[in-house]
Parts: sequence; C-alpha cells; structure tokens
Amino acid sequence: MNEKRVSIGMVGYKFMGKAHSHAYRDLPMFFPGAPAPVMTAICGRSVQGVARAAKQYGWDGYVTDWRELLERDDIDLIDINAPSDAHKEIALAAAKAGKHLFCEKPLALTLADSREMLKAAEAAGVKHMIGFNYRFAPAVQLAKKLVTEGRLGRIYHFRAWFLQDWIVDPEFPLVWRLQKEVAGSGSHGDLGAHLIDLAHFLVGELSEVIGMSETFVKERPLPESMEGLSAKGSKDAPRGQVTVDDATLFLARFASGALGSFEATRFAPGHRCTNSFEINGSKGSVKFDFERMNELQVYFTEDGEDVQGFRRVLATDPAHAYSDAWWPPGHTIGYEHTFIHEVLELMQAFEENRQPVPNFTDGVKCQQVLEAVELSVRERRWVRVDEL
Ligand SMILES: NC(=O)c1ccc[n+]([C@@H]2O[C@H](COP(=O)([O-])OP(=O)(O)OC[C@H]3O[C@@H](n4cnc5c(N)ncnc54)[C@H](O)[C@@H]3O)[C@@H](O)[C@H]2O)c1
Repeated sequence: MNEKRVSIGMVGYKFMGKAHSHAYRDLPMFFPGAPAPVMTAICGRSVQGVARAAKQYGWDGYVTDWRELLERDDIDLIDINAPSDAHKEIALAAAKAGKHLFCEKPLALTLADSREMLKAAEAAGVKHMIGFNYRFAPAVQLAKKLVTEGRLGRIYHFRAWFLQDWIVDPEFPLVWRLQKEVAGSGSHGDLGAHLIDLAHFLVGELSEVIGMSETFVKERPLPESMEGLSAKGSKDAPRGQVTVDDATLFLARFASGALGSFEATRFAPGHRCTNSFEINGSKGSVKFDFERMNELQVYFTEDGEDVQGFRRVLATDPAHAYSDAWWPPGHTIGYEHTFIHEVLELMQAFEENRQPVPNFTDGVKCQQVLEAVELSVRERRWVRVDEL
C-alpha cells in the first residue's frame, strides 16, 4: 500500500458509519498534510440502503457482504461500524486477510472476545484502532495536557457521569442496544465505556471497582425500524425482554491512589448527551461537559485569593490541540470534529509507521473494567481489575 493514501472498506453506514464517512471526506480539506483516506467501498445488507448511502456519503462503491471487502486487493483497512455483536467475526477475518482495523467501541461483547481480537491483530501485524472519539475534543486534550504537565498537581479525584434520556419512555422500542446478545451491555458498555476510556487516558489505570446496576423498564415493544438512537414502533407490537442495564454506577480506585466515581444512565430526563468529568488535584481542578465541548472549566489554587474561581477556557485558540486547522479563535467546532481528529490520528499512524492510539489494547483494558464492574454487581463485592 501507499502510506500517503489509505484505502478504506467500511461496514455499517448508519450513525457511526455516517460520522466516519464525514471524517474521511473532511480530513484532506483541513489536514492536507496527513495521508488521504480513499473512500473505496462500504458494506450494508440492504442493496437499496447501501447504494443510497454510498452516493450520499461519497463512497466509490458498495457491497452487501463484508467478506467481499476482505477479498479486494485495493482495500487496506476495514472500518467496523456494525452493532457490537458483529465486531469480532469481522475483525478476526479482516486481520487474517491482512487488513488494518478500525473498530467502534465497545471492542466486543466480552473480555475474552476482545483479547482474541487484539491477539489476532498483533499476530497479523496490522494496525488497529478503537473509536473512543471523545479523547479527541480539544478541551479534553487540554485537560490531558494540564494533568501530564503536573499543572493540577497530584490527582485525587476523577468524577465522571454520562447521562442520556432517549429511552425514558417505556414505550420506546426494544432496539439492538437493549439486547445483551447484540450490545453486550446497556448504558455500561455504551456510555460507561467512554468514561472508563477517558479515565484511563486522563488519570491512568483502575485497580479495583464496586458497582450497582438497574434495569428500570424490563419489557418493551419490538421495533419496526431503528437507526442509531432512534426507532419506530407501535404500542400494539409484541413485546420483548430488555436484557441489559438501564443504568450502572461504580466506584473505583486508580493504581495511582486516586479515587474515581462513574455513572452511566439512559434514564436522566433533560440530559441528551451529558458526558462529563471533573478532575481534582492538589494544585487545581478541571471540569468538562460534552454538551459544551469547546470549553474546559479550569481552577488553579495558585491564583491570587482575590480572583480565585473556575475560569472558562474556550479551547479554540492556536494554543489548543487541532485548533490551528480550524476556524479563528472562538469559532467553535462540534461532535463530528472529534471523528475527524480520530481519523487524523489513524492516518498519521500510517505515515509514521506506528500503532494509532487508542487501539485494541485500550479496548481490552476498557472491557476488563466493564467486566470487573459486572462481576462486582453480580457478587456484590469489590473486584480487583486484574482478577479478570
Ligand atoms: N463512538 C461513539 O460514540 C459511538 C456512538 C454510537 C455507536 N457506537 C458504536 O458503533 C457501532 C455501531 O453503532 P451505530 O449507532 O452506528 O448503529 P446503527 O444501528 O446506527 O448502524 C449499524 C449499521 O450496521 C449495519 N449492519 C448490521 N449488521 C451488519 C452486517 N452483518 N453486515 C453489514 N452491516 C451490518 C446496519 O445495517 C447499520 O448500517 C456499535 O458498536 C456502537 O456501540 C459508538
């Protein structure tokens, strides 16, 4: 392959498929120095749907069976945006075919499957990336910089919550995200996985956890159609069991000695996508809320007593990550830009001949914590992460 052009075959074209397609299209316009992703082919099961998506998103071609993507010599990387139960089979086959991998989170349904995927990618010697896109918000990168440079001092607390409300209505249909055999878990693996990855990225590894979990609505009507976080259904439709958690909360101890608290729920009315964290250290604190993703609230203990308080830093100046590629200071960016920065990292990894970060190793670490929490919920006890 040509390291300056990476040819992509993408599986799944709805919520994440659209976000990734958009990132591939925008990257060369704003980051022309990076290798250009070539949008070679996408895969979906419905020929009409995938043909329409290919045209709308700007892909050169489409197929209806992902195996066809693996057989093609003109495709370097397989980008997996199908529901979580499909990740493992596609990733293992793609690695075997010598294709590089980009997979949405959570990596797989179980820790054992995630480990198998990492092993397969390493054995094949291919690049592997996981889609923890929130790392790539400039304000989150700023939080990371302040922690790494010691400007917050010794870290005492990481407090994180990811709150949504899209299934509060008990008549909202039983979409794939509410079925354990497809999603692995509910709020925990969907929202909690992002918080765990941010904790790993910003503060370091977790050593032990204790959690609690609840499924508030246990039966829902079967859906007529679904996409991303939306679905159509009717009250009269047959019902099925919800087999995942609606909310999972846990406490954690970091290997560094810092303490963590985590809350993931889809039952917080008014919270559409409140993905937030706060870090408290000996020299200061930071606060982030994804719904105001351009901002980081920053507090330094060394500020003069007369002006102490949280300040709002708008992370759009040239001093902030990625910002010189975008608009003048104060001209904010959005959700889709996290994916453009994610794809930038992926493309730079090709240019620099290294693994992108975060990769399947980070996916496995996240899954290990997810399962440690699940074990703790089942056995009602503290669980050491290295028990798993
Ligand atoms: N990074 C994030 O913040 C984020 C956000 C949403 C979803 N996700 C993850 O992305 C993945 C996809 O979620 P989504 O919200 O895009 O789902 P979605 O339901 O919107 O889209 C799934 C797509 O996969 C296709 N698909 C399903 N099985 C397939 C198969 N066997 N072959 C080919 N295509 C198949 C569907 O037709 C659809 O196009 C999940 O693993 C999810 O956890 C990550």
